[in-house]
Amino acid sequence: MGGPRPGTRHQSVFTDESKLDLNYIPDHLPHREEELRFLRLLFRFALENPEEMSQRVLITGPLGTGKTVLSQRLGLLLEDEAWRRGVRLRYVHVNCRELRGSLFLILRRVVKVLQPGFPGRGYSPDEALEALMERLEEEGCHLILCLDEVDALVEEEPEALYKLTRIQEARVGLPRRLSLICITRRPETLARLDPSTLSTLQRNILRLRGYTKDQLLDIVRERALLAFRPGAVSPQSLELISELAAEEGGDARYAIDLMWRAGKYADRSYSPLVLPEHVRRAAVDLFPALRREVLHSLTLHERLLLLAIARYFKSSEEAYARVGEVAETYRVICEEYGEEPRRTQLSRYLRTLGRAGIISTRPSGAGGRGRSTLISLKGVPAEDLEREVMRWLEGEGGWVTR
Ligand SMILES: Nc1ncnc2c1ncn2[C@@H]1O[C@H](COP(=O)(O)OP(=O)(O)OP(=O)(O)O)[C@@H](O)[C@H]1O
Ligand SMILES: [Mg+2]
Repeated sequence: MGGPRPGTRHQSVFTDESKLDLNYIPDHLPHREEELRFLRLLFRFALENPEEMSQRVLITGPLGTGKTVLSQRLGLLLEDEAWRRGVRLRYVHVNCRELRGSLFLILRRVVKVLQPGFPGRGYSPDEALEALMERLEEEGCHLILCLDEVDALVEEEPEALYKLTRIQEARVGLPRRLSLICITRRPETLARLDPSTLSTLQRNILRLRGYTKDQLLDIVRERALLAFRPGAVSPQSLELISELAAEEGGDARYAIDLMWRAGKYADRSYSPLVLPEHVRRAAVDLFPALRREVLHSLTLHERLLLLAIARYFKSSEEAYARVGEVAETYRVICEEYGEEPRRTQLSRYLRTLGRAGIISTRPSGAGGRGRSTLISLKGVPAEDLEREVMRWLEGEGGWVTR
């Protein structure tokens, strides 16, 4: 595809890459208007008589079907309207997986959002919940708390949701202050909840389906207008992107990621247009497990462990690894990176990697060497995984949480 002509500076296909960012919330969500109206209706009370009631809603649906962005859009909409009406209403969105499924970390995050100077230390989870409710009472504010990827919370602390849903009942005679939106890709994990919490959640369920090819086409076309120079993504490329993403179960994140990567390939080859060949290239290195969001949410040690798993499988013909074998590689890698290995945390890290869909684990049968957990790598070649994790460790992917 040639290089730039001498004396000319190559112009990027992008005008604003941030519009393809994972955290960007578009003003308009094609093919989710009706769902947004439905949610808006469920929360009408919060604008009209917020002290009289509270709401619990569950949003489910497969990967990349707009659960997160829909809820965030609703939050902005409600906060905006509340502000215009002079109603005190806040929407706070937390990702339970990123906060290790810990109610305490979640509450601390929420209180910090509501009260930026909050010290946050030295509280028990129950005290943090009390502090939150007191804070809302003082402010006369209704909080809509969105627990995204709530399955992580349910798995780590099955009683946490019970506490959150019961806190209202314990405050007899006082105004309602807390509503919940729970989001999960895996509603079956909620079966672990106590029956009454489960039934309150099941009263209002919004089930999202994977997008069709035509719907994805509308989504990427609209997003391309925001992020690329006019016409830079050829119609054939938009078609191909939506077709590939429809095959991935109608995942809009995959579509947007694919478009972003294809744009990068176009720039790298000095092409003024994003062509189908760039899309195909991008598709090759976009294994589901390597998506930006997945790696982004991992902590340093989870990445080091992931690197250990990648290295193990790169040099092994086995389909399964024992934890002990991977732990040894992890120790060596920690040394390489000047980090103290955290052996006692390994099973927690493995659970996180499992939830992120990168690995699977299962108990080994009672074999000669005793019981152990077996690890396998899902849908990504070890070599690609190693390369990508190294890039993230070396900082290209952004900051690392500890
Ligand atoms: N209807 C839509 N219009 C525009 N963009 C959308 C739409 N639906 C999803 N997206 C975009 O696709 C990406 C994935 O959406 P989102 O993060 O909301 O999916 P999700 O259902 O929460 O997925 P996951 O289960 O993986 O958390 C985001 O970048 C989001 O902005
Ligand atoms: Mg999400």
